[in-house]
Amino acid sequence: MKFYKKNKCRICSSQNLELILDLGEQPLANAFIKKEDLEKVENKFPLRLFLCKNCFLLQLLDIVDKEFLFKQYLYLTSASKPIVTHFKKYACDIYHEFLMKKDNPLVIEIGSNDGSLLQEFKKLGTNVLGIEPAKNIAKIANDLGIPTENAFLTYKIAKKISIDNKAIVIVANNVFGHIDDLQELMKCVKLLLKDEGIFVFEVPYLLDLIQKLEFDTVYHEHLSYFSLGSLKKLMTDNEFEIFNVKKQKVHGGTIRVFAAKKNNFKPRKYVEELIDYEEKFGINKLETYKKFSDDVSRLKKSLIKELKKLKKEKKIIFGYGAPAKGNVLLNYCNIGTKFLDHIVDTTPLKQGLYTPGMHIPVKPVKILVEKGSQQVAFLLAWNYEKEILEKENQFRKNGGRFLVPIPFPRLV
Ligand code: TMP
Repeated sequence: MKFYKKNKCRICSSQNLELILDLGEQPLANAFIKKEDLEKVENKFPLRLFLCKNCFLLQLLDIVDKEFLFKQYLYLTSASKPIVTHFKKYACDIYHEFLMKKDNPLVIEIGSNDGSLLQEFKKLGTNVLGIEPAKNIAKIANDLGIPTENAFLTYKIAKKISIDNKAIVIVANNVFGHIDDLQELMKCVKLLLKDEGIFVFEVPYLLDLIQKLEFDTVYHEHLSYFSLGSLKKLMTDNEFEIFNVKKQKVHGGTIRVFAAKKNNFKPRKYVEELIDYEEKFGINKLETYKKFSDDVSRLKKSLIKELKKLKKEKKIIFGYGAPAKGNVLLNYCNIGTKFLDHIVDTTPLKQGLYTPGMHIPVKPVKILVEKGSQQVAFLLAWNYEKEILEKENQFRKNGGRFLVPIPFPRLV
């Protein structure tokens, strides 16, 4: 089985669900294609966002089987330097606040990818254990000396791991939204975490998605789009308590949430303040989501208009970065090789392949600076705008421009 449909909310089980945004039938955003497979029929699945009108969780209900999605994966944390830098500071902050004074502490990471974050904890002298379902990526981590269990975290696996391992800190970054059974996840965390331990996780923040029109972050891996309010409900239902939250800039706006078993830590005032802010913003109102959906349709039209204009001006346009979200944007807007010659990306695993759906070739980052003002780099990895613009300073000095797609097309 590759695909199934759900008819209940992932957090509260309500069936009071409304379709908000339909991005069409799309291939998997990370399913880059080998040249010899270009003629084969691609698997495509509906990509639709639904709102639960009871607890206001925004979510996908068309679910691609996780075995199919994650067993072999091309996303490598270490390919994006800003994330590595983010993780360095992340580990340092958690270490100084929660781990420094502990005896022989263990940090477990759920969805540990190539071990980039655990590597930093290890450098600080902590014991580490990763849990990562992608076979190829768990192998990379193990080869780098980060002990990694190659498995999906299920209750059975958690039970096995917890016989010898109880963590003082469990981390989970950009993985919470990937997991369909959130109640099972919380049971696993409960089992693997010492009573006085903390559970720290980062999730893309729903308010950023809506405010900055980050519709391309909606893809089959991302099943839920969280506000702090919806996370609070999930934690409370599982006898956990959110005691702190910190906004982060990565991935277009993320929140780092600190949770613990009930009554272990005094919640900071900011937690309730942010939940109040979300309510004032309209997070519990259907109109907020309807407006978002209309704005996304408008954005699609203006992006195509801008690309047509650039083509008329005889610009050479190429994609910069081949993130999963780039593929959602290209497929939704039907932007193919008619507009983009190729895409450049730093991930060795993606180079030499073709993008799912639009079949645009992915190449290593090598820019012909001398072609100057003839060139426009379509910044699909818009979340790294600052870093990439700094890095490609010479390209811009020679007249090259970046086209940033969201929240509205901008030439910089
Ligand atoms: P992400 O937004 O999911 O982290 O993916 C970013 C993609 O962009 C990833 O494939 C790596 C690529 N990338 C570059 O090609 N150049 C860069 O400077 C950065 C930061 C990322």
